[in-house]
Amino acid sequence: MREAISIMAFGKASTAGEVEGAGSGSALSTRDLSLEVSGRRLIDKLTLSLPPTSITIVMGPNGAGKSQFLRLLHGLAVPTSGTVFCCGTPLSERHRARQAMVFQKPVLLRRSVAANIDYALAVNGRRSRRRRELLLEAIGFTDKASQPARLLSGGEQQRLALARALATEPDTLFLDEPTASLDPASAQTIEHIVRDVSAQGTKIVFVTHDIGQAKRLAGDVVFLHRGKLAEHSPAPRFFARPRSEAARAFLAGQIVI
Ligand SMILES: Nc1ncnc2c1ncn2[C@@H]1O[C@H](COP(=O)(O)OP(=O)(O)OP(=O)(O)O)[C@@H](O)[C@H]1O
Ligand SMILES: [Mg+2]
Repeated sequence: MREAISIMAFGKASTAGEVEGAGSGSALSTRDLSLEVSGRRLIDKLTLSLPPTSITIVMGPNGAGKSQFLRLLHGLAVPTSGTVFCCGTPLSERHRARQAMVFQKPVLLRRSVAANIDYALAVNGRRSRRRRELLLEAIGFTDKASQPARLLSGGEQQRLALARALATEPDTLFLDEPTASLDPASAQTIEHIVRDVSAQGTKIVFVTHDIGQAKRLAGDVVFLHRGKLAEHSPAPRFFARPRSEAARAFLAGQIVI
């Protein structure tokens, strides 16, 4: 797996940033970011700055707006008002081309597993049999190359979606509950991959409901509640002394919808 990740040659120095003080690399920030759909405000005036590297975990109860937040950061949804910035300038197609996202419900090509990876490698001009093999190996799919992607189980589809995202060698990788359908061993494999990719300088924004996983991975935690930013804290502080009432209730296993 180590070799598989190293072929991606991200080549970016790892400069773990602080929550405050982001501003280089693929740093993302938002100002007064809002999204309204059918008269309902799904994201409400989010202003925050994510560290340029390290892993940002996004948490919050069902319906809090986590997936919509990721869609906005990735430019898939157009804000009703406010702005997403990447490296200090408004998010552009150039930035978007350097981002990848693994969706909560993976979207795969109706082709073989190998063809799904080949397609992503080709988009990046890096198609090669060796790279495909290493990516398949990283997700434990060496024996599934010729299988139709649509016949994979839900968890297997999530793993393939991650390999495909990695094939594009993104500066920023958005992961929306990428291990939600995975068995513990597969989830652990994904966590290893995510850590490796992060250590090589890729910014990771990772949505999870799994508090143990969040503790293992997080550099900082963004906690959303009813579309609002309840809290954005360095991970040790978030888990030891959450500042917001919503985060305290969430961590205590109480419903905060
Ligand atoms: N197209 C839409 N039109 C109207 N409301 C929407 C639309 N898409 C999402 N929503 C609503 O926006 C809210 C936030 O949705 P979102 O998918 O971002 O939640 P989430 O935090 O990712 O939840 P989960 O943990 O269940 O994945 C939800 O209440 C959802 O019903
Ligand atoms: Mg979601």
